[in-house]
Order: sequence, then C-alpha cells, then structure tokens
Amino acid sequence: MINVSKPIIDKEEIDAVMEVMKSGMLAQGPRVKELESEFAKFCEANFAVAFNSGTAAIHSGLYALGVKAGDEVITTPFTFVATANPILMLGAKVVFCDIKEDDFNIDPEKAEEKINKYTRAILPVDLFGQVYDYHKLEKIAGRHNLKILEDACQAVGAEQSGKKAGKFGDIGAFSLYATKNIMSGEGGVVVTDNEDLAEKCRRFRHHGQSEQTKYEYWDIGFNYRMMDIQAAIGLAQLKKVEIFNAKRIENAKKLSHELADIKGLVLPQVLEGNKHVFHQYTIRVTENFKSTRAEFMAYLKEQGIGTGIYYPKPLHLHPHFLKMGYKAGDFPVAEKLSTEVLSLPVHPSLTEDELNLIINSIKCYAKQ
Ligand SMILES: Cc1ncc(COP(=O)(O)O)c(C=O)c1O
Repeated sequence: MINVSKPIIDKEEIDAVMEVMKSGMLAQGPRVKELESEFAKFCEANFAVAFNSGTAAIHSGLYALGVKAGDEVITTPFTFVATANPILMLGAKVVFCDIKEDDFNIDPEKAEEKINKYTRAILPVDLFGQVYDYHKLEKIAGRHNLKILEDACQAVGAEQSGKKAGKFGDIGAFSLYATKNIMSGEGGVVVTDNEDLAEKCRRFRHHGQSEQTKYEYWDIGFNYRMMDIQAAIGLAQLKKVEIFNAKRIENAKKLSHELADIKGLVLPQVLEGNKHVFHQYTIRVTENFKSTRAEFMAYLKEQGIGTGIYYPKPLHLHPHFLKMGYKAGDFPVAEKLSTEVLSLPVHPSLTEDELNLIINSIKCYAKQ
C-alpha cells in the first residue's frame, strides 16, 4: 500500500537519539537549545522557542500575544481542530470566517467583516503547505490594530515573496508531528522577531518560570517542554528539510502535469509569489468528475493507493462548535470544499514507480 504520508527515519535520526540516550540527559537541554537556534536561522527569525507539540506552540503564541477571556480570535473553519482549541484554552471566543477556493486559506475580506471591539487577533493557517494571503490580511490587521498568529504547522520551508513561513505575523507556530514535512515524533516551535514575545512563550512552556530566575513564577504556565530526544530527531530532519521539500515539489509538479486535463478534477494552485511545499497534494473531485469522491477513493485503495480527506467536515459543523451557535450554511466555501477534497500521496519517499502507478491509475479510471 502506498501511504498518504510516511515519516523518513534514517541512520542520522537513530544515531542522534542514541547519543542523547547515552548522555543521560533526556529532558529539555542542549539539543533543544540547538534546535531553537537552527530553526530561527532557517526561518530567518530572531528567536525560536521549542515545545512538545504544535498545539502547545499555538497556545503559547496566543498567550504571548495577550489573548485572554472575553477576546475574540478570527480563524478558518477549514483546518485541524488544534488551530482553534488553543483560543478556547485561553477563554477567548473562536470566530470563524470563510475561506478562498484557490488556496483553501482564510479569505481576508471575510475576516475583516468579523472584526469588532472584542477582536484581539487573527489566526490564519498555511494549509497544505502554502502561505496564506498575507499582504491583504496584514493591511486589515494593521488598520484594526490586531495581532496575527500564523499557524504554519503544515508549512515548514514554504515561502511567499522570498520570505519563509512563520514570518507572516507577529508569531509563527510550527508542528513537528510525525507526518509533517519534518518531524520530531511530537513537537512544535514558535518563531518571532520580538524578544518579549519569545520570553513570554518560554515562560508559558515552563510553568511561568523564566530561564534566568528559577523557581520564581511570573504567570500561569504549563509543562510544554520539548525533550532533547525529540530535538535530536528534529535537528537531524531540519538538516534535510530543503531536500525533503524539493522532492515534494518535484512530485507535485509531475502530478499536476500528468493530471492536468482530467474532467472534473481541480488540481492544487500555487498562487503567485508562493513556494508551496505540498505537505498535502490536495485535489478537488467536483460534480463534473466521472464518479463520486467515495467511489474514486475506493478504486484507488484497490490499486494500493492510500488517500486522505483533509478535512471531511469544517470545524463549525462538529458538535464541539455547533454548541457555540454555528450551523450549516455559515461558511459555504469551506462546506463545499470539504465534500470535494482528496489528498494524494506526494511525500518524498515515493518511488518513481509508485508515482507512475498513482498517475496511471487515475488516468485509467478517468478514461473508463
Ligand atoms: C494546521 C494545524 N494546526 C495545528 C496542528 C497541531 O500540531 P500538533 O499535532 O503538533 O499539536 C496541526 C498538526 O497536527 C495542523 O496541521
């Protein structure tokens, strides 16, 4: 079976973990510091702070931006739930707005319509590995004096106008979960150019303690610390991020070239000025395609090709958010796209034969 995602674990990762194990220093230590320094360099950010998950990174980032009970944060309903839950963890309100069809990301104009006196921040997502429409959203945030936290969990190494993902807001948050473009098993990182925000993130990660004044608690915090074991894996992966992303881009190019003229399939768009790193290669199976999405998926599965639906239902239609008063029809674009999206394997360990099997199977099905 060709899986839709597959972590790459080479000798470098195994050796790096063994080295930490042998050192006896398993918890947060020198490898975490090194990962932070290398991550900041990679993103061309002044600071990076590592966490034990992307969720923790978003939670800490929002905290550092001053999001608190009574505030509202505007975000997209077409994302993983970990984008929205940290808003609720801080006692703030999740305010969804609809997305754009071309990049599946937040629609800045729709976001602006949701701004009121309670709005504190906007939380756009670089979904599937493509940076959101920063230029429009940044102007809106500026006009209304709002902070931006960029959920770059799926977009390490992506770029817009030559600038790296993570830099399109006051804080950028990454996930190093096992299936991400680079991973540490579980893990997360925030990047920022602002020293005060970085320090607030560091404290929040460690029960409100600063690294300078141990056992002095400045504010509430959690245990969100990354282990050195995780950082060792992350460091080994970070060295290969450009190789991994280049392979994803090459695979995506081939898929887009070969599948270009199939009636009813809409292929992923790379918007002008963007370097899309294809965390997912997500097509749309529209009503003009020869079969339903479910039938197409079942056929691909029979051919040994795994696919994924990210996401089968926008967040506002889950019981968790329906309780907050959302209903079907609130975000028509997200609702429509969730019935159409299908992610094909694009990961760097696909062989040429596997990629050809995916392409030929789809072409053959479309012709039948
Ligand atoms: C868009 C998005 N936001 C947030 C997260 C949360 O990251 P993690 O699973 O590392 O907590 C993920 C990844 O799972 C994600 O894809």
